[in-house]
Amino acid sequence: MSGFPYLDYQHDQLWIESVALSAIAQKFGTPCYVYSKAALIAAYRAFDQAFAERDHLICYAVKANSNLVILQTLATLGSGFDIVSGGELQRVLKAGGDSQKIVFSGVGKSSDEIRRALQAGILCFNVESEMELMRLNQIAAQCQRIAPVSLRVNPDVDAKTHPYISTGLKENKFGIPMADAERIYVAAQQLSHIRVTGLDCHIGSQLTELDPFIEASQKMLALLDRLVQLGVHVEHLDLGGGLGIRYTQENPPAIHDYVQALCASVGQRSPRILIEPGRAMVGNAGVLLTRVEYLKHAPHRNFAIVDAAMNDLMRPALYDAHHAIIPLVKKMGQTQTYQVVGPVCETGDFLGHDRALYLEADDLLAVMSAGAYGMSMSSNYNTRPRAAEVMVDGDSVHLIRARESIDQLLAGETLLN
Ligand code: LLP
Repeated sequence: MSGFPYLDYQHDQLWIESVALSAIAQKFGTPCYVYSKAALIAAYRAFDQAFAERDHLICYAVKANSNLVILQTLATLGSGFDIVSGGELQRVLKAGGDSQKIVFSGVGKSSDEIRRALQAGILCFNVESEMELMRLNQIAAQCQRIAPVSLRVNPDVDAKTHPYISTGLKENKFGIPMADAERIYVAAQQLSHIRVTGLDCHIGSQLTELDPFIEASQKMLALLDRLVQLGVHVEHLDLGGGLGIRYTQENPPAIHDYVQALCASVGQRSPRILIEPGRAMVGNAGVLLTRVEYLKHAPHRNFAIVDAAMNDLMRPALYDAHHAIIPLVKKMGQTQTYQVVGPVCETGDFLGHDRALYLEADDLLAVMSAGAYGMSMSSNYNTRPRAAEVMVDGDSVHLIRARESIDQLLAGETLLN
């Protein structure tokens, strides 16, 4: 299937690698996230091999999917990690990630998170403000460590993506304004417990064109040259994440072409290149399985009420994102146009609008391209336990996260006496 090399129909049944998805739904119940290990490995290798001989580090953006087995699989391949919280740090370390391959992004790192990352000995803090730099220097002094630092500079480039996931415009909250970068770099070099090691940017997510990446990298390289003039030498250039995937009609650049374009843009310059891909690594490695609970044929609309909801997959509700929805078992019959909705009490709780499907109660569906920002953005809204997660590896099926129980959800709460 286009975009999903490890997922296809065989005799009317949808398979992932060598397992029928309906068998997984029967065994583990729904809603359930299912990932293909082969797809994950293939995506990592595509990034890695495209760099060829150039010194590089792929820092998988953990926020896209932070399941320990996803992290473990990538760690085994030699991947680095881009984290944005103390929780993600703990996950990466638990999964066997190498702390010397961790970069720490984010505009609001707490003192405690900074301390833990210093103690772990991470590769680099991607610093997003002058105040953060001062706090980092202070905490590093207290911990008797030298903090390796990259400034995240906002290149003011239009990523041409959804406004909620565009980060590299000057009106966005991210990064240090380009006009301040040189001054802050020079100041950083004077700080006793800071070592300047890199330069960083990230302009947004789900980019489907190369131009904004190239424009941002050119601006970073021009800055890098100016920094050299000022006696600031960086060891690595972190060009962030953001490569888009195909959900339906999009035609994003292939991983290989994207990496090659970045390498060509950097040219003969020497720094090691870091990138922080999230979505392109896992997005099309995963699907969300759901079961039809009820069909409701109202006068103007047909509703398919399924057992997955906005708490399981928030992207449609939050970004009006389109995920293809297809049956696990193909059946012959007259299709109807359905609103595919969940049980949550909100009109915004939908997984897909106007989908042509032939459906009967209890039918199983796959919500496609759900490997990135699916489970990691899920919540317990409406006191709904979060879904199970399963990884398929050839013909083996592993439960990598058990479905939550309601008792687990209530465990932290105590009644007043
Ligand atoms: N690096 C930084 C600093 C980031 O902020 C992000 C994503 C990435 C890397 C990874 O970007 P990717 O390669 O996955 O595009 N929840 C949204 C996406 C939010 C992205 C936030 N930052 C969605 O579901 O579309």
